[in-house]
Amino acid sequence: MERTLSIIKPNAVLDNNIGNIIAKFESEGLRIAAAKLVHLSKEKAEGFYIEHKERPFFGELVSFMTSAPVMIMALEGEGAVDKNREIMGATNPAEAAEGTLRKLYAKSIGENAVHGSDSQASADREINYFFDKNEVLARF
Ligand code: CMP
Repeated sequence: MERTLSIIKPNAVLDNNIGNIIAKFESEGLRIAAAKLVHLSKEKAEGFYIEHKERPFFGELVSFMTSAPVMIMALEGEGAVDKNREIMGATNPAEAAEGTLRKLYAKSIGENAVHGSDSQASADREINYFFDKNEVLARF
């Protein structure tokens, strides 16, 4: 059983799509093992996206991710990392397949509704970055 980190980004939170997005995860067999709605500080967002620090869009990315609350979740299920990426669709909504979360709820490549870990190693780092061990439920 795998876990992955999911973030419902500010545009989807402001558009009132938290429930729609969680319903999609659950209907695809992923369970919520941890969850919190938070307004990220600049420092916390910069640390999360540290690998993108040199990218030209880094400032814009941090500014967007701190513009409103985000819903952060650890999702659990068989093949959770890949399953979540499939459910989200391509990073750029213009390239996202029909029915994917980004096709449905993203506005642009920046305001793309959801984040999902890109590998199991990233998932472990990202879950630990946002959650204490005792905030993530044991397998159930
Ligand atoms: P995410 O999966 O959260 O990880 C890095 C994010 O950078 C990515 O989603 C995009 O939202 C964002 N991103 C990637 N490319 C661009 C870009 N060209 N302009 C703005 N944001 C981008």
